[in-house]
Amino acid sequence: MSEVTVIGLGPMGSAMAETFLAAGHEVTVWNRTASKADPLVAKGATRAAGPATGELLVISQTAYQAMYESLGEARLDGKTLVNLSSGTPDELREAAGWVAERGGTLVTAGIMVPPPGIGQPGAYTFYSGPKEALDRYAGTLEALSEVTYVGEDPGLAMMYYQAQLLMFWSSLTSFMYAAALVGTAGVRPTAFAPLAQGLHGELAADGPMGYIKILSEELESGVYPGDENSLHMQAVGMGHVVETLRAAGLETTVPEALHRLFARADAEGHGHEGITAVVESIRKPG
Ligand SMILES: NC(=O)c1ccc[n+]([C@@H]2O[C@H](COP(=O)([O-])OP(=O)(O)OC[C@H]3O[C@@H](n4cnc5c(N)ncnc54)[C@H](OP(=O)(O)O)[C@@H]3O)[C@@H](O)[C@H]2O)c1
Repeated sequence: MSEVTVIGLGPMGSAMAETFLAAGHEVTVWNRTASKADPLVAKGATRAAGPATGELLVISQTAYQAMYESLGEARLDGKTLVNLSSGTPDELREAAGWVAERGGTLVTAGIMVPPPGIGQPGAYTFYSGPKEALDRYAGTLEALSEVTYVGEDPGLAMMYYQAQLLMFWSSLTSFMYAAALVGTAGVRPTAFAPLAQGLHGELAADGPMGYIKILSEELESGVYPGDENSLHMQAVGMGHVVETLRAAGLETTVPEALHRLFARADAEGHGHEGITAVVESIRKPG
């Protein structure tokens, strides 16, 4: 089995180190707060003298600044760094240059599961950067999740990751507003959950409510039919959602933002088209 050094032993890095150990790899660990390595050393990992130890460095820290602070001026000749920390695409591009200046190669990554999902079926990670470097270590990285390569530009892994997180966080926040709203009528969240699960399942499936597929086809064609359900009608309806939440004594930041966006698209002349026309306003910040 191969050798891997895990840098950053928060919930994610610790779960990654454990998963590599369970897969039979030789695991070395390093963390700014050294004591977080203790449970992993007890399970068979080796404590690194410094962060720039080994040939394959898997990094999982809060943000990219942590990589700069951890590695400092260390030379990285011949090393491949796979960074699974959060950042912006531009930060990742800058980081690729920083690693290259020190003689190393950076593979950027965004992992799409929480700690308990690492190494489980269905887990996947977006990778970008030099493909040959990823291919060299894909056999080791597959212990964590499916390896999904999205392109040479080092910023792409985070672009895909942020796109997924945007949908994840906004869907969950909408569910919290919805649960809070029906909660004001005494409905328990667990009693409401099956309705929310049903809607999300329908949006993801094929069929008349299969809007992810419907919208993606309309986005590609640039044609947004609104004969059966116009954007104007939906902008008015979204206004009613905001009023209902407000009347129920709830705060309305996110629903109001949605209403503003729909109303702007309507005012910009898209009211007779379908909801997909909102993308025209998204592409043109007001
Ligand atoms: N948790 C999740 O569900 C999840 C899911 C997908 C992706 N992610 C991403 O995975 C990454 C790690 O997640 P996590 O939950 O383990 O987060 P975390 O708790 O924020 O990560 C903490 C790790 O970052 C280190 N760190 C932070 N600032 C540092 C600095 N300036 N210098 C050196 N080390 C520093 C910490 O070291 P100390 O122990 O010394 O403080 C610790 O090892 C994040 O970028 C997160 O966005 C998380």
